[in-house]
Amino acid sequence: MANKCPVHGHQELVDDDYFSSPYAPYDLYAALHEQGTVHRTCLDGHGQVWVVIGHAEVYSALRDKRLARPREYSNGDFIGQRFPEASSTGTIVTLDPPEHTRFKKMVNAAFLPRNLEKFRPRIHEVVTARLDAIAAAGGGDLVEDYAAVLPITIVCDVLGVPDEYRTKLKRWADQTFTGDDETNGQVRTEMAQVMNLIREQRTAEPGDDLISHWIHAKNADGEPELDAFQVVAMSVLTLIAGYDTTSGMISRGALALLDEPATLARLREDPALFDAAVEEMLRRNGSVHHGFRRFATEDLEIDGTKIGKGETVLLYLTAAGNDPRRFPDPQVLDIDRSDKAHVAFGGGPHFCSGSELARMETIIALRELFTRFPDIRLAVPRESLTVRRSPLLPALASLPVLV
Ligand code: HEM
Repeated sequence: MANKCPVHGHQELVDDDYFSSPYAPYDLYAALHEQGTVHRTCLDGHGQVWVVIGHAEVYSALRDKRLARPREYSNGDFIGQRFPEASSTGTIVTLDPPEHTRFKKMVNAAFLPRNLEKFRPRIHEVVTARLDAIAAAGGGDLVEDYAAVLPITIVCDVLGVPDEYRTKLKRWADQTFTGDDETNGQVRTEMAQVMNLIREQRTAEPGDDLISHWIHAKNADGEPELDAFQVVAMSVLTLIAGYDTTSGMISRGALALLDEPATLARLREDPALFDAAVEEMLRRNGSVHHGFRRFATEDLEIDGTKIGKGETVLLYLTAAGNDPRRFPDPQVLDIDRSDKAHVAFGGGPHFCSGSELARMETIIALRELFTRFPDIRLAVPRESLTVRRSPLLPALASLPVLV
């Protein structure tokens, strides 16, 4: 917390220290909670922002219509070019209701409970294959060999991405969080080109997948609900939103359990408790650290702090989950905690469309991993673990284990 932004003079909250270990963000949040619920800072590559960390404040800000997503409300402070800030205008993440509602319905169609259950056997199939490979090798990197493989496979299945494009799309999706602006621009163009090819294939030969559903959905007047551009933009967005978030959740959840032998012993004795454990991990270690940028449509106040019209507000969801005013001893992973009102999936109109799929993947991945390998342990010293340099998703860079 020592550095100051050379341009605006604000304290830099998310600095080298923040990315130095998977535990560092929580130490920062604990220190910030002692100072207040709203902070002013500059974020690397994003310009000046307001950071809201209090649980009550984040909860109501997620539902506050005066905090809008369309970039036209920005006063220009906001310069971010990374995902999702640079996402195309006119899609689910850059619109608010009422325009947003139409897109939201189109995405949610895939994640209704009756549609979700069909992914359960596939999740088990992918998990078992990866665990077999890790068993054969005597260990592996739980990020690349496990946590990343499951969600990229499932989200590609959901969308209907043919096998030949999956490796490329995963590589590009990885780059969207950590690459510089130029790499990002290039990667987004390449992803859009591939998604457009898939859109053309699915136009000719529809399948039982989300891209086909989007292409062929009609409104009440019989007109297409989405145009070609919107189908492509939504496909890119859903791939990224469904992949890295869940991968980060599985790997951080695995580390949490490697750190907590007593909790792990209880879970192994009664695997049904994994559901409660994942909920508690979402509170304490949610993978999406802040919501997408929001702009004040008018001068307003949050917990007594004045936010000017057009200024950028980032709602820190994981910090809110670690707010001691709401969750006593927030850094303790307590699977019996009765208060489960975390905001790891956001809230209000932009609440995560894939929350139930993400829960299903994370629960199965962690339960099968820890019940299959009773001797699983870290292959490197804890102090050597690092996170990648993404303020939105500072996921573990790697998690080497022996089994
Ligand atoms: C543990 C995993 C996940 C976490 C922590 C997570 C978290 C979030 C959060 C916090 C938001 C809202 C951001 C904001 O309001 O600023 C969001 C939105 C979204 N998520 Fe997730 N997500 C996860 C998995 C998924 C999956 C698996 C999918 C789909 C396959 C998905 C699709 C979406 C979409 C489409 C949105 C945009 C919704 C909107 O703007 O209306 N997410 N997610």
